Amino acid sequence: MATIKIHGGYRLAGTVRVDGAKNAVLPIMAASLLAETGETCIEEVPYLTDIENLADVVRSLGARAELSHNGSLKLSAERLTTTTAPYELVRKMRASFWVAGPLLARTGHFRVPLPGGCNIGERPVDQHIKGFEALGAHVAIEHGYVEGYVKDRLRGARVYLDIVSVGATINTMMAATLAEGQTLIENAAKEPEIVDLANYLNAMGAKVRGAGTDVIRIEGVKCLHGAAHTVIPDRIEAGTYMLAAAITRGDVFVEGAIYNHLSSLCAKLREAGVTVEDDISGIRVRADGPLHPIDVKTLPHPGFPTDLQAQMLALLTTIEGVSIVTETLYENRFLHVAELRRMGVDVKLEGRSAIVEGVSNLTGARVNATDLRAGAALVLAGLAANGETVVTGLEHLDRGYGDLVSKLRQLGGYIVRTDEAQPPLRLVTAN
Ligand code: UD1
Repeated sequence: MATIKIHGGYRLAGTVRVDGAKNAVLPIMAASLLAETGETCIEEVPYLTDIENLADVVRSLGARAELSHNGSLKLSAERLTTTTAPYELVRKMRASFWVAGPLLARTGHFRVPLPGGCNIGERPVDQHIKGFEALGAHVAIEHGYVEGYVKDRLRGARVYLDIVSVGATINTMMAATLAEGQTLIENAAKEPEIVDLANYLNAMGAKVRGAGTDVIRIEGVKCLHGAAHTVIPDRIEAGTYMLAAAITRGDVFVEGAIYNHLSSLCAKLREAGVTVEDDISGIRVRADGPLHPIDVKTLPHPGFPTDLQAQMLALLTTIEGVSIVTETLYENRFLHVAELRRMGVDVKLEGRSAIVEGVSNLTGARVNATDLRAGAALVLAGLAANGETVVTGLEHLDRGYGDLVSKLRQLGGYIVRTDEAQPPLRLVTAN
């Protein structure tokens, strides 16, 4: 079994460059199915299993997907061969459900397996379905599949999302690009990845306005074409390295990190006593003075991101005093706590809050990553702990962090991966 071994206690210093955002590439890959003509070329695509998986899903629908060594991904969906996505591929990753909106808008039909729950929560898709129905689709759930169809064309409509959902905003926005007339998505999610998707859709010929605010307006067009697009830097990867700098009391420049995408993390780090300087090309994080406990609550963007909650909690375990971390998005996103306890941490769970009693010394232990960001939190804790930490469950980490081990080593971390080479990824070849 592959593991990551860390000898903790080394201060991280230097510069690390972040990759393109996984969570921006995935919706753009799904949206490329909307293009009846032309090729899409996405630049700054990271090598991650999630990207490979979605490439397999779009290829199963008849599209072409080629990922090259230099981080560019070419997609072409001129001829789709089916509107049913296979269970075996979709079950690997929830974001596969995002092909539903483009298929519905372009062909009038989709049949996509209902994503199951996952380790961090139930994660229903009722708001995606609400969006499709508002645009005139008939949607049913049968035999484990969500199936939607519309007789002629989708019709623009006013859609109010009951929950601020990234996925439902994305799916509704993509579907509305080819609807007849105007769509208004109210209570839309405002994540930077949604703005990036809107920019790509507009490059394809769509008319999307207001992305990044809670009301998005879409004027439907008749057809879309492939387009070139460079994705934004990964704010969650950037935030993870910023927290790695803080937990090792180090000094790291995170090249490519965009301050506006990470303002809540920067504010919370400053509140804890960490020095954060934003520069035109990245963010520098320095932790050389005493740090103080803080309270953190996850919220939709621009609030504190749930995808950095576990890593922030790991930092707070190293700051003496009581910190409280409240998770408002997912009902079960504290699985890392049980593993962190094995490293000598005192954390009590009370409902949706974790009460963290920080300690001056974590102790290395064998721990298991239960999900992607939990895995990152354990690696961070290992970098700060006394002695050796062994992290298992690397398949989760490989979904979202490219070159994690070599990037941390380059910053001075004492960390190796027992299967040495980075994730055994294959290149996606043309079909
Ligand atoms: C995306 C991100 C994920 C991040 C999450 C929240 C990707 C690939 N994934 O996931 O990393 O943690 O945003 O920032 O970009 N909900 C419903 N009904 C729905 C849809 C969502 O109740 O129809 C709930 C979910 O269960 C969750 C909350 O809304 O509690 C937010 O989920 P959502 O924003 O949709 O997350 P994803 O798009 O799945």
